[in-house]
Amino acid sequence: MIEWSDKYSVNVAIIDKEHKGFINLVNRVTVMKQHNYSQKEVEDILSELVKFAKEHFEMEETYMSTFKYPDYLLHYNEHLNFSLHMIIYNNQVINGEYKIMDELHKYLQEWVAYHIHITDKKYTKCFNKNGLK
Ligand SMILES: [Fe+2]
Repeated sequence: MIEWSDKYSVNVAIIDKEHKGFINLVNRVTVMKQHNYSQKEVEDILSELVKFAKEHFEMEETYMSTFKYPDYLLHYNEHLNFSLHMIIYNNQVINGEYKIMDELHKYLQEWVAYHIHITDKKYTKCFNKNGLK
């Protein structure tokens, strides 16, 4: 299980709040993985992840473009990569191959370690400088 800690903070309250919500979703996947789960449960968690990603990425991208964040494109590519992964997992589940939880779980853990913990934190200075805290 991943526990929220200040090391993940991007120093923007609304974004930290959403990242906490995301970590909760990742932890749900961890719990699911330890039990028997149905195709429906996998479909549900995937659709929540897709919904989260769409709304959350849009928010970050809007701020990045408004504040002319120099690494926007690099950051955007990572978001795109996440969305593509969710589409691929979704397709596998729809096709009945719903035993994707190990792979999904690994991908989400890596996302927290590399995207939230490293990539997202890079915009802190720019966002704070523009008055977003
Ligand atoms: Fe991001």
